[in-house]
Amino acid sequence: MGIAATESIRRQNDRLHAGIDAVGAFRDRLPEMQPQQVRKELDDALVFLRHEVAPHAGAEERVFYREVARVLGVELGERMAGEHRYIDGLVQDLTELRHRVTAERAVPPELSGVLGRLVDIVKAHLRLEEEVLQRLSERLTDSEICFLYERMERAEFEAAVTSEGSAETTGFQEEH
Ligand SMILES: [Fe+2]
Repeated sequence: MGIAATESIRRQNDRLHAGIDAVGAFRDRLPEMQPQQVRKELDDALVFLRHEVAPHAGAEERVFYREVARVLGVELGERMAGEHRYIDGLVQDLTELRHRVTAERAVPPELSGVLGRLVDIVKAHLRLEEEVLQRLSERLTDSEICFLYERMERAEFEAAVTSEGSAETTGFQEEH
């Protein structure tokens, strides 16, 4: 059962890897894209970041990182939470750049750099999490891992419901 739970967490990370790879591919195509297409792709990237990455990160901070801090040390938990804050800041930058594409009808030159930093940090963060998950699973019993996974699922569901509610007020999809 414990193995099934860590396997599920890993599978979930595979989905996040695929999503961030798509953002990387978008960044590579940027030089040949029209502002209209860039806006659409940015919307897709922001939907992924706000509705998949953000609820997942919130659940991790409430459940997974607490366990990391308890079992592997407070510093590691804080480092991982710090990476979330950095990612959050880049998503905010991206949201502003998205508005500028509409307002200026041109692609801001900073966009490529922000996308590149975002892809790099999310990938490094996922790799670190996988490593930490491995270390954690060596220290916890199967039933502890199962319990951790159950709490993660519940926290993620709650965070997703909350983000649905707040998405209506962000309005980044309204400017067409
Ligand atoms: Fe994370």
